Amino acid sequence: MDKKITIAIDGFSSTGKSTLAKQLAKELGYIYVDTGAMYRAVALYAMQHDFISETHFDKESLVAKLPKVTLQFLFNPELGFAEMYLNEVNVETEIRTLAVSNFVSKVAEVSEVRSKLVEQQQHMGENKGIVMDGRDIGTVVFKDAELKLFMTASSETRAKRRYQELIEKGQEVTYEDVLKNVEERDYIDTHREDSPLVKASDAIEIDNSQLSISEQFQKVLELVKSVS
Ligand code: DC
Repeated sequence: MDKKITIAIDGFSSTGKSTLAKQLAKELGYIYVDTGAMYRAVALYAMQHDFISETHFDKESLVAKLPKVTLQFLFNPELGFAEMYLNEVNVETEIRTLAVSNFVSKVAEVSEVRSKLVEQQQHMGENKGIVMDGRDIGTVVFKDAELKLFMTASSETRAKRRYQELIEKGQEVTYEDVLKNVEERDYIDTHREDSPLVKASDAIEIDNSQLSISEQFQKVLELVKSVS
């Protein structure tokens, strides 16, 4: 493994993309970028400014304010990973709530939001040595990534994982609500006009319904070795 590469990880929500990406980044000494956190931060901004709610979505106002939205990842040495900052405020906890999950796919449909974030993501990966996860990394952001992975697992497996995570964080949610959110986001993410979630033709599919975290990690490390 002597040359630095770009690793693009795409897939449905709660397929364990970030767990795998963090393991790889640590092992390889690469930068890890969670692009979902960026879309979540923009959704949080829209919620804070009342541009989006259960009953309305004022896209025009959100688009007009986009130049005022700054997103940064700042490394937290105690946690060992970077946290998301929205206009210089740490929003790492807030962006992971079910409330944000319920609006984020709608915000991610807006082309102006996507082009702003894609530009920033491409800039972060200019020097390679990066693991980026999301929905359009292998198809739009880094079309020439040396390794592209596409992660899948059944919606029930994914909802169980996400439910467990939220409960451990002390959030009051039901399994049914989490499953509904996972299925709704799958639908919107795969049906949107701009950059829908699809497997890149040269991506390797990993269904981890039956794989342990360490089995998956070993399998992917072998793939990394074969291309770097
Ligand atoms: O990875 P995540 O579940 O935190 O992502 C949250 C949402 O953001 C997801 O439902 C769709 C959107 N997203 C996207 O459209 N493109 C990306 N590259 C990453 C996330």
